[in-house]
Amino acid sequence: MTKTVYVLNGPNLNLLGTREPQVYGTQTLADVEQICAAACARHGLALEFRQSNHEGALVDWIHEAGRLHVEGRLAGVVLNAAAYTHTSVALLDAVKGTGVPLVELHISNVHARESFRHHSYLAAAARAVMCGFGVQGYALAIDGLAQW
Ligand code: DQA
Repeated sequence: MTKTVYVLNGPNLNLLGTREPQVYGTQTLADVEQICAAACARHGLALEFRQSNHEGALVDWIHEAGRLHVEGRLAGVVLNAAAYTHTSVALLDAVKGTGVPLVELHISNVHARESFRHHSYLAAAARAVMCGFGVQGYALAIDGLAQW
């Protein structure tokens, strides 16, 4: 049975390519989706790739991934919650409540940036946390969870 990877992207990541390119690079979210699709194909995994600027949508998608997890059909979730990383108890509770195996991902090295980016509500519930590899980090995250 083919397992699925959920790659979920939070607020403002739809602006990748033009948003602070010195921080996030010049590749677009569509490019990131291609990177993820290639990584999933290498591992024989299916991909659900989504972005929302709305916290509740991300919560709903984690619940959806949780239902696949219960059925043994989820490979893992790669979540770049963007700014919600630093604010959202709701996303933390969604991850804890579903038990989905989670990679918390950031394109930039959040620890080299403003201090408000140093704290993550999600890290405590994540199986892995990665940051600073640029958009190639998404492929590395999929390579990692494919071994779980
Ligand atoms: C980010 C880092 C966050 O601090 C920021 O709010 C983002 C993107 C990253 O991918 O580096 O929107 O998650």
